[in-house]
Amino acid sequence: SSSLPLLSSLLIPLFVLFASLAWRWTKSVRKNLPPSPPSFPIIGHLHLIAKLPPHRALAAIATARGPVVLLRLGSRPVLLVSSAPAAEECFTAHDVAFANRPNLLAPQILGFVCTTMGWTPHGPHWRDLRRIYAVHLLSSAALRSSSDSRTRVVRSLAKSLFLEPGDSEPNGPRRVEMKSRLFNLVYDVMMGLVATALEESAEDRHRFREIVEETSAVSGAANVADFFPVLQRLGWRGPERKLARLVQKRDALIGQLIERHRARRRRSGSNGDKERPTMIEVMLSLQESDPETYTDVTIKALSAELLGAATDTTASTMEWAMCLLLIHPEVLHAARAELDAKIGQGRMAEEKDIPNLPYLNCIINETLRLYPAVPLLVPHESSQHCTVGGYDVPRGTMLLANAWAIHRDPNTWDEPEEFKPERFQCEGGKEAGLRMLPFGSGRRKCPGEGLAMRLIGLALATLIHCFEWEKLPGEEVDMTEGPGLTMPKAKPLEVVCTPRHTMLHALS
Ligand code: HEM
Repeated sequence: SSSLPLLSSLLIPLFVLFASLAWRWTKSVRKNLPPSPPSFPIIGHLHLIAKLPPHRALAAIATARGPVVLLRLGSRPVLLVSSAPAAEECFTAHDVAFANRPNLLAPQILGFVCTTMGWTPHGPHWRDLRRIYAVHLLSSAALRSSSDSRTRVVRSLAKSLFLEPGDSEPNGPRRVEMKSRLFNLVYDVMMGLVATALEESAEDRHRFREIVEETSAVSGAANVADFFPVLQRLGWRGPERKLARLVQKRDALIGQLIERHRARRRRSGSNGDKERPTMIEVMLSLQESDPETYTDVTIKALSAELLGAATDTTASTMEWAMCLLLIHPEVLHAARAELDAKIGQGRMAEEKDIPNLPYLNCIINETLRLYPAVPLLVPHESSQHCTVGGYDVPRGTMLLANAWAIHRDPNTWDEPEEFKPERFQCEGGKEAGLRMLPFGSGRRKCPGEGLAMRLIGLALATLIHCFEWEKLPGEEVDMTEGPGLTMPKAKPLEVVCTPRHTMLHALS
């Protein structure tokens, strides 16, 4: 009889353990999980995305398995969504559930332990940052007041192209490399918003460009430790050292900008241009009233995010657009005819002209459709259980919405692989549902869409209006995509450009 309490003290915990395992097992069996391709132990489906660029590999999985698929990348469950209706469900009905970001290694290092708006969890800090962006930088009023500085930067690009020596005669054709020029254009605009253009030097710009490109390539590579957190616990952090070195370089550059602002404030007691304060000025004055929230780390993180998130994406969209125009000269001619008809040939384009150029806007939309700069958006993560396409999606699932595949879905687009800007004209230029989501959708949608569209519109209008553009003689335009989280063009675009005679007086 004395062994009875001992036996029951052993049996009861065992019974409880068994019952809870059985309950969890029946619950998971009862769950209607999305379909999943066959997987390997441990790596799950990682092998399926190892070869092609991830957006193409994931599109192939969706073609075989459907628009809502559950993958296991290492030990991480991933919901892959590849149709407009499924994306709409995620970013409308379940927008709050999917408003979080997964805890990945690269942003931990790049995003100052996720203090940037892009990587911080959905919550009060994210809302605070989003408000700062919206009020001080990206509201319609703020965009209107920064329009002159964008015009200046775009015109200085046109001038520099005009001043390039012609290959055989002064105002004749000249061979130019456009990728770095477009990057510099966007960088100068963003630097104007972050810290005023006066404070950067060409050398800083060059160094920053290298950092952005390398960072995008390193962080875009699938990081094994992200899919096997156990490796992180064992101390393996993949490309951490490489990223940390890049971050160090980036922070040194941005740190200098902050110090210069601070020194100027101390010297003059001024807050800079009150009408149009830079991001760093706004943050330094917030720091005075709340130093705990607005630390130097936050200021550095936000500045780096503005310069990083904006430049690569906006510049590569312009570069793809120019490639498509070179391949389709009839579209280029139609765009120029629209500019000549609406603006004439006596002056250069201004930002306020852009809404009156519907065909140009169609070209930009069609470029964003075929070459969305962030083809898989930024990963989201579910913070609660929800259902998508009738399937159960457990809490803690990473969401990848394949915008690239959605933009080329034959169920929603006629001849999806063709470059046909006029398709947007037929629909009055309106987006239908979530067939188009180059900037994402819902709460975590890109806050820079308005700025990007204004800048892309003005830059393309100016370049098309003022110059003739041709492919290099005897060469086709190489449309290969490079590596990275964004979708850069692998080979920098080189073209032949010739100032238009009718625009010479406006350019000179
Ligand atoms: C987020 C695209 C330009 C700042 C995003 C996202 C996409 C995107 C797809 C993720 C949305 C999601 O999570 O579902 C683009 C494209 C651009 C562009 C295609 C240019 C053509 C810009 C510019 C800025 C910017 C100019 C800065 C002014 C950001 C930030 C986020 C973001 C801060 C994170 C938002 C958050 O997590 O709450 N962008 N972007 N982007 N973008 Fe952009």
